Amino acid sequence: MWTIGSLRWLKHSATLSYAAAVLSVIAALVIARVLNVQYAYEPLTPFLCAILFSAWFGGARSGGLALLLSLATFYYYLLIPHHPLDAQMNLWRLILAALTGLFIVVLSATQRSAAEALRESELRLRQIAEHIRECIWIATPAMDQVLYVSPAYTSIWGRSVESLRQRPKSLFEAIHAEDREQASGIITGQRDQGFDIEYRIVKPDGAVRWIRDVGIPVRDASARVYRIAGISEDITERKQAEIAFRHSAVQLRALSRRLVELQESERRELSRELHDRVGQNLTALKINIDTLQPALASHGDDDVIARVADSAALLESTMDAIENVMSELRPPMLDDHGLAAALEWHARNFSRRTGIAVVVHAGEPPAQSAPQVEIALFRIAQEALNNIAKHAGARHAEIALDQDNGDCVMSVRDDGIGFDVGENASDKPKPGLGMVTMRERSQAVGGRFEVQALPERGTRLTVRVPS
Ligand SMILES: Nc1ncnc2c1ncn2[C@@H]1O[C@H](COP(=O)(O)OP(=O)(O)OP(=O)(O)O)[C@@H](O)[C@H]1O
Ligand SMILES: [Mg+2]
Repeated sequence: MWTIGSLRWLKHSATLSYAAAVLSVIAALVIARVLNVQYAYEPLTPFLCAILFSAWFGGARSGGLALLLSLATFYYYLLIPHHPLDAQMNLWRLILAALTGLFIVVLSATQRSAAEALRESELRLRQIAEHIRECIWIATPAMDQVLYVSPAYTSIWGRSVESLRQRPKSLFEAIHAEDREQASGIITGQRDQGFDIEYRIVKPDGAVRWIRDVGIPVRDASARVYRIAGISEDITERKQAEIAFRHSAVQLRALSRRLVELQESERRELSRELHDRVGQNLTALKINIDTLQPALASHGDDDVIARVADSAALLESTMDAIENVMSELRPPMLDDHGLAAALEWHARNFSRRTGIAVVVHAGEPPAQSAPQVEIALFRIAQEALNNIAKHAGARHAEIALDQDNGDCVMSVRDDGIGFDVGENASDKPKPGLGMVTMRERSQAVGGRFEVQALPERGTRLTVRVPS
């Protein structure tokens, strides 16, 4: 609607401002003349009005021009003819008029520049609001009146800004039926705290979009909430990516669990094959050689005797090697003597191979854990020691096995270079599988896995499995 205020915001040139000053002074003179002739009245007021109008319309310069013109006009056309003898008196009147006019010009020009600065910042904000993808809105606390909504509303909601202004309720009607009750409860119920929620909307063409809506309470001087200002954005793509990510994380977990199971069953299978086929054949071979050796000795062929003795020694070391491989594949200790003994046996072998001293502290012997828990913990300790040998540069390592509040807790620590917790494994050119597998093995038996860089030096890895 057109108001007198909009007159000021008309884009006007300096010439127009000066013209307005001149015209307003002429108008003041005409009015003053009429008042003067009709009522014998000395009118200062019309000139002050002219000055006020000029300063308001065109700023300080136009107000200043109106002031000068007014003083001249006032003096020549109004004061002199009526008080020709009272020059002293007229001078004071003129000074009074000049001071009043000056005051008006300064006041009005100051107000004008403040209002202009405000208007400019408002304009800038509006331009930002109207050009961003997010929808900015301002509403009454009850959300029964939408005072401002940026044009992005149309592209996000697929409805016109005007329709929302006319029917603020349509905002809630557009929310997906499954999310409506909860979302509208939060939007209307959390005026004082503000809100940050996500919900789905249904566009008029039936498309479903995800929205993130943030509302901030705006308070007046008495801290009463009198507006809600908000920003809404379409987060559908992000949501879809999140869902896809969650889905692939679930698949990845299933895959790594399967991998761990397969690895375990293949090791078991291989160990059995080695035992049943290779081991038994080697034993039969050994019996044969043991029988042959005394018989050959009586024939006295030294070369043949030496060869058979050499074969017997070779057979012995092959049987040892096979035994070792079988133990690595499926430590018999684990089945026969339990986890602590198996860990000690493995630690001894590891120290002999790598030169890293490993101590095993097995506290209160735990009530025999389930076989799958024992094998999981054993494999985790195996991989942890492998990592220590590969990455830690440590001299000592320690495996602790204990009970805590009914949980079975195993920790493996070293005094090596420490673990970079912030490092992202996927950033490596060839990310390893050890950590993933250890975590997976822990989770498969209902446990929790944690890796820490120790403040002094080194790394500690802890697995806690409820008994
Ligand atoms: N005890 C440790 N001290 C220092 N760094 C470690 C330690 N254990 C693991 N790391 C770091 O964690 C990374 C991931 O270990 P992970 O076992 O997953 O992979 P990997 O040992 O490199 O490969 P893989 O186990 O598949 O043969 C390692 O590359 C290493 O940088
Ligand atoms: Mg590893």
